[in-house]
Amino acid sequence: MHKFFIQSLMTSTILALAACGGGSGGDTGSSSSSVSSSSSSASSSSSSSVAAGPFSIEPDFNLYDLAEFPVGVAVSAANENYSIFNDSNVHDDAALRRELIPQHFSQLTAGNIMKMSYLHDDEGVFTFADADELVGFAETNGMTVHGHALFWHPDYQIPNWASAAASADTSAAEWENLLTNHVKGIVEHFDTEFPGVVVSWDVVNEAIDASTSDDWRHSIFYDAFPAPAAGEIPDYIRVAFQAARDHAHPDVDLYYNDYDNTANTDRLNKTLVIAEALAADGLIDGIGFQMHVYMDYPSIDNFRNAFQQVVDLGLKVKITELDVSVVNPYGSGTPPPQPEYDEELAGDQKLRFCQIAEVYMEVTAEKPELRGGITVWGLTDDESWLMNQFNNNIDGANYDDVWPLLFNADLSAKPALQGVADALRGIACTRSWE
Ligand code: GLA
Repeated sequence: MHKFFIQSLMTSTILALAACGGGSGGDTGSSSSSVSSSSSSASSSSSSSVAAGPFSIEPDFNLYDLAEFPVGVAVSAANENYSIFNDSNVHDDAALRRELIPQHFSQLTAGNIMKMSYLHDDEGVFTFADADELVGFAETNGMTVHGHALFWHPDYQIPNWASAAASADTSAAEWENLLTNHVKGIVEHFDTEFPGVVVSWDVVNEAIDASTSDDWRHSIFYDAFPAPAAGEIPDYIRVAFQAARDHAHPDVDLYYNDYDNTANTDRLNKTLVIAEALAADGLIDGIGFQMHVYMDYPSIDNFRNAFQQVVDLGLKVKITELDVSVVNPYGSGTPPPQPEYDEELAGDQKLRFCQIAEVYMEVTAEKPELRGGITVWGLTDDESWLMNQFNNNIDGANYDDVWPLLFNADLSAKPALQGVADALRGIACTRSWE
């Protein structure tokens, strides 16, 4: 059931991305080969004979060691598929993952298990066992945790206490109490049980409307309060950040996180409205850019511009959910074909990862204290959420694999990992490896 909900959620997210123009060209330098590098690749709807590779490198570095900011990875835990704690019917390498992750990453994000309903479903009843296992693992391995997320809208994530309040005659003042108690219960738990480990939180995730982009998302939390005046942010956002500021340890960084807020100027501007409004009252430390991106979209200039605007506000920039699909299902072609992951494409992807990390370093060069970090959304290609997403008959296509991450399914490092390392070391980005 859980998987079904995740999948439908992803569908809506991706449709929103599509609506926001995924597929326009860019200045990535990766050329059109991103979707057409192999003219002999299998037809779009075929599910056979697409794979070349895997291509791997033997890193002579620990990735996190090359950066003075968090280098993170999102992980599954508890009994999820690809849990780092338990094998499942799709993986039997949980122990190997627990060894590999601390070699390259200094921070963990829970892919799901620290979201609202996992931690606090019934009012005042907090369920921390699974999250504690994850945060404890981070602590034992000298890693930190980026908390994700205190408020998020999808139906499957809405806690019972919020549904109950929405269907009762709940005043704005009562809602404020509920939201505050939710934040307080969670942030105080981790600060107390694992001091200094959960160093930041996505306080609010995805408050901008998916389809109109320049409107607020009318979520259950938005609807709980009077509508904001023009130019103002929704009350629930302010309540959430105020509660986090009041109850989290003062060193904990508070982020607003959203997707498609680089190339899409409506979504970027809305993000900046939130940033400015909260920054004026000292309630926010940074902006999270999810960055579920493609080889050809958005452009590096789009990233540069968006990051720069956040830096100009004196806030941290955090890439929170990076993956680089080698297929843009909304790109040119009807639909774009399933590519073969050949040597050229692996090189293109190495270049793309490098250029993303490079522009991040460049924009923050004079203010390294504004580097909130870079987190990839999963360890291995086969565990990516995009595997569910892109084999779901988008425009008639079924993509068997889109190879979006830094490690192969067999846990070997991809050339893309070298690309990120090159950027962190200040080495020029190239397609070649070895
Ligand atoms: C959004 C959420 C994440 C995750 C991804 C897809 O970006 O912020 O928590 O659910 O979708 O996995």
